[in-house]
Amino acid sequence: MSLPLMHGARNNITDAIGGTPIVRLNKVAAHVKSTIYVKCEYLNPGGSMKDRVALNIIRDAERRGLLTPNSTIIEATSGNTGAGLAMVGALRGYKCVFVMPDKMSNEKIANLRALGAKVVLCPTAVDPDDPRSYYEVTKRLVQETPNSFHANQYHNPANPEAHYLSTAPEIWEQTQGGFDAFCAGMGTGGTISGCGRYFKEKNPKIRIVGVDPIGSLYYEYVKTGRMTKPFSYYVEGIGEDFLPSTMNLKIIDEIVRVDDKECFLMTRALTRDEGILAGGSSGAAVAGAVRYAEQLDAQGLPPQNIIVLLPDGAQKYLSKIFDDNWMRDNGFLDTEDPMGTVLDLLRSRSARPVLTVEKTSTLRQVIALLKEHGISQVPVMDQGRLCGLVAEVDLLNHLLVKGGKLDESIEPIIEADYATVTPATKVRLLKTIFNDAKMVCVLSTGNADQSSKTPVPQDALMGVITKIDLIDYLASRHS
Ligand SMILES: Cc1ncc(COP(=O)(O)O)c(C=O)c1O
Repeated sequence: MSLPLMHGARNNITDAIGGTPIVRLNKVAAHVKSTIYVKCEYLNPGGSMKDRVALNIIRDAERRGLLTPNSTIIEATSGNTGAGLAMVGALRGYKCVFVMPDKMSNEKIANLRALGAKVVLCPTAVDPDDPRSYYEVTKRLVQETPNSFHANQYHNPANPEAHYLSTAPEIWEQTQGGFDAFCAGMGTGGTISGCGRYFKEKNPKIRIVGVDPIGSLYYEYVKTGRMTKPFSYYVEGIGEDFLPSTMNLKIIDEIVRVDDKECFLMTRALTRDEGILAGGSSGAAVAGAVRYAEQLDAQGLPPQNIIVLLPDGAQKYLSKIFDDNWMRDNGFLDTEDPMGTVLDLLRSRSARPVLTVEKTSTLRQVIALLKEHGISQVPVMDQGRLCGLVAEVDLLNHLLVKGGKLDESIEPIIEADYATVTPATKVRLLKTIFNDAKMVCVLSTGNADQSSKTPVPQDALMGVITKIDLIDYLASRHS
C-alpha cells in the first residue's frame, strides 16, 4: 500500500462508524402534536450504535495496556456489542469470545460467528448469580482464558463515554441543539447516560426520556427506589434484572414503559409505513417516545421536538418480529389473546376497592385490615404512589422474632416482593411472574389505557392480583 489514500475513501471500516442520519417520522406518530425524529444508528457498519462503544472500549483498553497483540476479547453481549467488538477486533487482530442468553435471535448468533467470533449460549431464565447465567459464565471464561480482556460493557465507563464523545456531539452538531427531548431504550445505560450527560451540559432544559420494557426493573426503581421482581420479556437489548454501573439513573427526567406487543407492532410500522428498517428495541424507543408525546398532549403542554435513538436494524429479527407465524404464536399479532389481558381479569371479578395501607401505618393498623378482609398481604402507598408491600409472614416475623411492637411503623418491613404490570399485560405472562413474585400490582399507563370514561392517572394502582385471583380467573373461564 504505497499510494496515498484515494479521495473519498476511508482508511478502514472503523473510520466509517458514525455520521448516521436523523430522519423525521411522518406517519407513525401523526396523532401527536410533537414531532418525532429518529437517529438511524442501525446504519453503522457493524449494524448498531454499539460500534461506537466497541471502538471506544478497545481504544481505551489499548491505551491502558489491557489489550495486547494476541489478546482474546471476552464479553457478555446480546449481539450488537459483540458485532462491534468482532468488527474492530478483526481489523486489529484480536480473537473474540461472546457469551449470550439463548433467547437471542439466530441471525444475531450467525452474525457474530460470521465475523469469526466464538459464541457461548446460556439459559435466559436463570438468576444473574446462577453459575449458568451469562454473567457468571463470562466471569469464569475471563478467569480461565490466558491474555484475555473482559470488555465488560455493564461496568466499563468507556461504554457511556463512547456516547458522550461520539453519539451525542454528533446529534448536537446535526441539529444545532434544536430539540427538546432525547429518548432512548435502557440496557447497559451507555446510550442514555452518555448522551444524557452531554445534552444536559449543553442545555439543562433538554428532557431525557428512558424507555424500559415491562418485566425489567428500571421503571419501578426510578419511580419508587425499590428493586421489584423482574420477569422475562421478548424485546432484545433493553431492560435489565440488575443495576449496571454504566447506568446513571439520575440523568433521566422521565421513564416510560412499553410491552412486547407494542414494541413489535411499532417496529413493523416503522418498516412498513416509514421504510425504516430498524429492530425491536427501536420499535420500543419509538413507542416510548409516542407515549411521552401523548402525555404532553394530555397535560396540555407545548409540543416538542423529540429525538429517538434507533439502536439496530431489522435484519437480525427477520425470523421473529417480521415473521407472522412467530408473532402469531406468541400472541403479538392477534387482537384477542384467548387467555385475555390483566384488564379482562380485573373486570371479570366483582368490583372491589383496591385495599392499600400508608407507609406511615402501624403494625396494629395493618393487622386489623388484613384480618377484616381475610387477606395475607397488602400494597403500601407513599403520597399516592405504590412503594412496596407488607405480608402477613413478615409481620409475624417482626413481632415474634425481632421483638417488634404493635404501635411501630411498618416501614422496616415493607418489601419489594411484587411485580408491576399494566392493564394490557397478557394473563398468560402472570404464571411466569408468580414464580418469583408474591403479588402483582396493576399500574395504569395513563390516558393510553382508560378503561372507563374517567381518565386514570399514570401509575395509579388499578388493582392487585394474587395467585388465587389468577386461579379463580382461569377456573371461571373453564366452567
Ligand atoms: C438492540 C439494542 N437496543 C438497545 C440497547 C440498549 O442500549 P444501552 O446498552 O446503551 O443502554 C442495546 C444494548 O445492548 C441493544 O443491543
